[in-house]
Amino acid sequence: MFTRVKTADEIENLRKSGRILAEILQGVREIAKPGVSGLDVDAFVASEAEGVNAKCAFKGYSGFPFSICISANDEVVHGIPNDRPFEKGDVVKFDFGINYGGMITDSAFTMVIGEAPSGEKKKLLEATEAALYRGLEEIQAGAHVGDISAAIESALKGTGLGIVRDLVGHGVGHQVHEEPDIPNHGRAGRGPVLKKNMSLAIEPIITLGDYNIKMDDDGWTVRTVDGSLAAQFEHTILVLEDGCEILTKL
Ligand code: MF3
Ligand code: CO
Repeated sequence: MFTRVKTADEIENLRKSGRILAEILQGVREIAKPGVSGLDVDAFVASEAEGVNAKCAFKGYSGFPFSICISANDEVVHGIPNDRPFEKGDVVKFDFGINYGGMITDSAFTMVIGEAPSGEKKKLLEATEAALYRGLEEIQAGAHVGDISAAIESALKGTGLGIVRDLVGHGVGHQVHEEPDIPNHGRAGRGPVLKKNMSLAIEPIITLGDYNIKMDDDGWTVRTVDGSLAAQFEHTILVLEDGCEILTKL
């Protein structure tokens, strides 16, 4: 389904959904320390969501077995929470979705466990987050999807980082994934035109090496072919007449 222009009531629920999601991810950032496992984080987010009458949008989506995707190091996205304790220096992506009143928001961040990011890891995380914000700057009614893609690509130009081609941003709201796809590379002026009050998830997915990815035998975990570290930052936004509203930011 192509993402619909949302009604005023739907937008109210999207705002609540995004705020709940942002608050829970802030909590994840605080509890994710060496010795804590992905299953611990999964239990945390599930109980936080339940406490505010929200549903975890990923649980059961296409059969995904848990509430949050947790992908460490060379795992790129869609990692299944497990009992391995995080270790100092792990580069971990937390990707979470909330359904509140039928409206879904989707957001992700990457952090280094137990220490301040430095060196290549710092470069990777900072460039990926900056590329997300660069993409968001292009959003307004009348812009083309390709404007976002081209801006993300150009933000990463000259960094030597890999832009994963096979994973894309997307429309979001009534479902986790709505059309259109929003690639992280492309040409300005191409692709579908954005309308006011559409909701979109923008998510550059970037590696320290080559952009090729492969799927694990579990059918979910995506990792880099060359073993390089990967990062992802994602926000759900609402398209405005003259810009965008970030729904998943505190
Ligand atoms: N945020 C993820 C994405 O946009 C959605 C994960 S759904 C799940 O691809 F089923 F994999 F959890
Ligand atoms: Co997404």
